[in-house]
Amino acid sequence: MNPLHSWLIYCRPGFERDCVEETQAKPVETTADSGFVVLQGKPKLVYKQLTFARQLLTLHGEVNDLPERDRLSPLLAAIPASPEKFGALYLEVPDTNEGKTLSGFTKRFQPLLEEALINKDRLLPSPLAGEGQGERGNLPRLHIFFPDEHRVLIATSDPHNSTSALNGIQRVSMVSDAPSRSYLKLAEAFEVFLDKKEQALWLKPGMTAVDLGAAPGGWTWQLVQRGLKVIAVDNGPLKGAAAGHPNIKHLRQDGFRFRPQRPVDWLVCDMVEQPQRVATLMTEWFIGGMTQRAIFNLKLPMKKRVAALQEALDSIRTALNNKGVRYQLEARQLYHDREEVTIYLARKR
Ligand SMILES: C[S@@+](CC[C@H](N)C(=O)[O-])C[C@H]1O[C@@H](n2cnc3c(N)ncnc32)[C@H](O)[C@@H]1O
Repeated sequence: MNPLHSWLIYCRPGFERDCVEETQAKPVETTADSGFVVLQGKPKLVYKQLTFARQLLTLHGEVNDLPERDRLSPLLAAIPASPEKFGALYLEVPDTNEGKTLSGFTKRFQPLLEEALINKDRLLPSPLAGEGQGERGNLPRLHIFFPDEHRVLIATSDPHNSTSALNGIQRVSMVSDAPSRSYLKLAEAFEVFLDKKEQALWLKPGMTAVDLGAAPGGWTWQLVQRGLKVIAVDNGPLKGAAAGHPNIKHLRQDGFRFRPQRPVDWLVCDMVEQPQRVATLMTEWFIGGMTQRAIFNLKLPMKKRVAALQEALDSIRTALNNKGVRYQLEARQLYHDREEVTIYLARKR
């Protein structure tokens, strides 16, 4: 056990303090709006149990004053000797304006560093199209993180305790006929919480869903694109292609009172309400056996975001435990989440 284990965590800029609070680790570097934190003093952190961490890395060292002419040599010298071999190389930047200006450089620099590491037998070559993960899936990944153009933090990730998404951001694409950009949020939630096999199994054409607070229809559209039939509950109008679509039944009702006539496969909910009120509603649906799975947003406009979130999640756990309902519960601040987080709740057999 190493009490001085150092962690590098990426987050949405502005949520650095929330990262510290939820890990309860000692803050070493927590600059406001930087999009990352360095923490110490916790030998074990579990990525899936963290909400505000986009990525969880073990920090090995850093290089300051990186010379513009030769960035490769000092970087290679600073890469730790152990682990001996990496399964992948990620060159990453914070989710800030400065980070965006650096991403062109990291794209150009990536093949140079990759080639040098492959030649030294420290990195497996990138997989060919269609090739499986094989040994790569178990090897640590090497992360070279540029907070700015002269500084580099060198870190590794455990493929079983992190995300494989570059910069910790799962990319999803928009469709031209989506009624709102919220379409992307539910797309991201499905990618983050379900692997491809689970998506194929649990988002099958013909399955049913209820969308509470559906207007103008982005989430409903995401479900319809996957072949689901949706009851969209909202007093507001659905827009564009979602209005009058044959697989969408729009009900102008109160989402807190609506209950389906038959159980559905999915419940999604994006109503802007107090987190505790939404948590109670979700719990009632699960205890009543009205859905198998749910994805919902908890809005966190308050100062004590971590406390409000924990309170809401604890109330779900307590209520479901008391009723003997077996479940899986995960919470994550997605890239498309602003002052809010997204929750995945699923009934387990
Ligand atoms: C953030 S928007 C939802 C956006 C939607 N997810 C999308 O993808 O387009 C919140 C919606 O919740 C609805 N809403 C808020 N309280 C509600 C309630 N009690 N019952 C039904 N809808 C409600 C609002 O009318 C609003 O359209």
